[in-house]
Amino acid sequence: MRIGLAADNGDWHKARLLAALRAQGAEPVLFSLADVAVVTGGGEPLRVPGFPALPDGVLLRTIAGGTFEATTMRLGVLHALAAAGVTVWNGPVAIERAVDKAATSLLIARAGLPTPDTFVVSHRAAAAEIVAREAGPGRPLVLKPLFGSQGEGLQLIARPDELPPEDAVSRVYYLQRYVARSDGLWRDYRVFVCEGRAIAGMIREGDGWITNVHRGGRPLPWAMPPRAAELAEAAAAAVGVDYTGIDLVADGAGGFLVLEVNAMPAWSGLQTVCEADIAAAVARGFLAAVRAAHRPRRVVA
Ligand SMILES: Nc1ncnc2c1ncn2[C@@H]1O[C@H](COP(=O)(O)OP(=O)(O)O)[C@@H](O)[C@H]1O
Ligand SMILES: [Mg+2]
Repeated sequence: MRIGLAADNGDWHKARLLAALRAQGAEPVLFSLADVAVVTGGGEPLRVPGFPALPDGVLLRTIAGGTFEATTMRLGVLHALAAAGVTVWNGPVAIERAVDKAATSLLIARAGLPTPDTFVVSHRAAAAEIVAREAGPGRPLVLKPLFGSQGEGLQLIARPDELPPEDAVSRVYYLQRYVARSDGLWRDYRVFVCEGRAIAGMIREGDGWITNVHRGGRPLPWAMPPRAAELAEAAAAAVGVDYTGIDLVADGAGGFLVLEVNAMPAWSGLQTVCEADIAAAVARGFLAAVRAAHRPRRVVA
């Protein structure tokens, strides 16, 4: 099997995944989606570095950030790979849904899963109306960048005049009801789901309301309650991700709300507090999917 690992940054994750794939008998080739070319005029027009013919499977760890054009091209490459029969994990449709926080919220809501009330509009006037109606002192809305990650660019908005101009939000206002933590600790939860199963979870404790590990959030061991595992599994299914990190927050009544579905999750923090070998689980699930898709046809004698 010809196996590619598409990754740009994060040496720790690359090394773990390469080792896990090798331990399971694969010989992965590391490449960056930014180095894939389209060349017409003869032969296979999709040129993946390290692959004279197209790979059988691509495990996608990261898509390098970039302009709208660069991201569109890289997603187009993933779509072209999938259309050519290459097993791509996570697949392009799942990536698109998870990267776009509005699409994620829509799918979570359609699946009937609990998530904070969310409002996504394009015009500042419409956003101002929502803030005037839904927010107030002590009960703000969270404004998030539509394509945000790692807890960057989030803001609490309590008054319409606090809304940034349309240019500053790339012309999309993603507003979500702020969920206050009831016990005075800045905690929420990360669940890692692979092949439909919640295989690991942790508490994330921050020094403020944004708990991402990238922003200083500390991973703590967590005896994941079954209802959190079930909710994370349902959220993964709703978005169609093969492996994912799901952010949950306590709803204050013993249950959980889905905050985010991450289709390119990092797990170096989680791995320090959980028993499951996450890279091994991802490699196992991915290779099983590649094998299932490329099962040799039975030869009838
Ligand atoms: N509605 C909310 N209420 C309270 N805290 C929130 C809310 N949304 C996000 N947060 C906090 O901000 C963090 C980052 O938000 P998230 O939606 O996961 O975006 P990102 O892609 O940046 O991780 C969450 O892990 C949580 O700590
Ligand atoms: Mg998050």
